Amino acid sequence: MSEAGSKLIKSAQQALAYARGEESEGFVVHVPEAVDVKSIRKRMGLTQLEFSSRFGFDVRAVQDWEQNRRQPDRSARVLLTVIAHEPEAVSRALDAKVKSNNVDVRWVNRVELLRAVEEHYGPYAHSSIHGVSHWAKVEDNGLLIAPYSGADTIVVTLFAWFHDSCRVNDHVDHGHGNRAAEFAVTQRGALYQIDDNSLQLLLEALRDHTDGRVTEEATIGTCWDADRLDLTRVGDLLNPKFMSTEKGKELALKSRTL
Ligand SMILES: [Fe+2]
Ligand SMILES: [Fe+2]
Repeated sequence: MSEAGSKLIKSAQQALAYARGEESEGFVVHVPEAVDVKSIRKRMGLTQLEFSSRFGFDVRAVQDWEQNRRQPDRSARVLLTVIAHEPEAVSRALDAKVKSNNVDVRWVNRVELLRAVEEHYGPYAHSSIHGVSHWAKVEDNGLLIAPYSGADTIVVTLFAWFHDSCRVNDHVDHGHGNRAAEFAVTQRGALYQIDDNSLQLLLEALRDHTDGRVTEEATIGTCWDADRLDLTRVGDLLNPKFMSTEKGKELALKSRTL
């Protein structure tokens, strides 16, 4: 770790010790009573998912903080204050720590991911049927279902942006799930990083999303439901029996009454 990183960690440890009420020689800190998490994140140009992944927060906690459903506790406020002033140093310090512990880092470079997928999909990337507006909707649907199903949210996001990236037309293309899985696996480490188990879930979700099956596996089911819920864009009436998750079934049923 760099000298600056070491100093930062030491300062953060002292601040945390102080926050916990432990001895902290000659060190006086002011811990703010409230922290504007949304403005810190927005200044950095990160989505909630990216902010959570980069600094090790639970994405649901970040959502709760931003919507004032909960306040960050004292330790989290200390860390958020350090992030507000030295985001790059915190990233470097945490990254070094994670690497030294040989633990996989989970991240998605959303800007590069979108660029790469658009390039791969070519002229169809902005198609109203299977293009970028559909991918964004699939991600929204998936992240809506995930708190209920317990799905792995980074897999849900990656599924949304990869699943239709290898279509060769906007009509019948049975091979696009397999091609998406092949493409996604080549981008691990470049556009995103996830552990082996999550990668297997992503690849299975991508390969089989064209078959119309349902599954009891929560993450894969959430991905498939998220995609099928957007069939309303082509005027299809949703059928709950083709949904895998309880929340997916509920949303499909609700869409029929709208
Ligand atoms: Fe598809
Ligand atoms: Fe799709």
